[in-house]
Amino acid sequence: MSNRKNQPSAVGASPRNPHLEACSAAENLYSERTSLYHFIFMILYRYHRQIENFLQKEACVRSRMRILDAGCGSGLVTKKLHGMAEEKHCTDMTFHGFDLTPAMLARFQTWIVNNNLQNTIEVTRANVLDLQELPQDWRDYDLVVSASMLEYIPKDQLVLALRNLAGLLRKDGSLLLFITKKNFVTQWLVGKWWKANLFEEGTIDTLLRQAGFRTIARKLFSAPYRYANYSTIALEGRFST
Ligand SMILES: C[S@@+](CC[C@H](N)C(=O)[O-])C[C@H]1O[C@@H](n2cnc3c(N)ncnc32)[C@H](O)[C@@H]1O
Repeated sequence: MSNRKNQPSAVGASPRNPHLEACSAAENLYSERTSLYHFIFMILYRYHRQIENFLQKEACVRSRMRILDAGCGSGLVTKKLHGMAEEKHCTDMTFHGFDLTPAMLARFQTWIVNNNLQNTIEVTRANVLDLQELPQDWRDYDLVVSASMLEYIPKDQLVLALRNLAGLLRKDGSLLLFITKKNFVTQWLVGKWWKANLFEEGTIDTLLRQAGFRTIARKLFSAPYRYANYSTIALEGRFST
């Protein structure tokens, strides 16, 4: 696997169209709060345990898979999927990740280098609303997964973001989303403090259909996260019925 893109690349300091301006607020937030994000959500809230447990249960890796982590941040999802692929002795895997915030990518890149995985996991900087920035051969994925990123996309741009991700999938590929459900706790913690959009049950299904997905499955977390994790919705979208 090539390592040509292992350094987060520049997307351009200023947004090129008004839709991208809203995204710069998210970039600023995660640039300023990179360490705080990890302290609050990983160390205190243990958010990563829920996602890792889900991925392990779903056993979503097999040899020769191409996987893209959209809004990968510091790599939570890719790290877990890579670990699972190693456990299962999967071969010929492709792991790509992109994110808007260089500080988050830098944290992921440090982990990649420390674990000598530069030839296995590639990351780059890109905005989900403007995926022309991705390398030409970043396409035809079996799995595109995105955790807690769509919360930062302006509501009127969500279908565009989902269509962009859909465009990177193989015909029989699937999109796996983790998104924050609106409730009393998330409204304050994630909505107000972390300036994220929250979702009502069912909203994202409609958007996925508008983006071309014909089969949408609500996925369940296993115990104990099924009960504790009332704040995260997991959905899988496929093109086929
Ligand atoms: C809550 S963090 C989630 C990071 C990682 N997926 C995880 O689960 O730990 C949200 C991430 O979305 C990224 N993000 C926000 N808007 C984005 C956009 N328009 N394009 C790509 N990434 C974006 C942020 O930079 C941040 O790293």
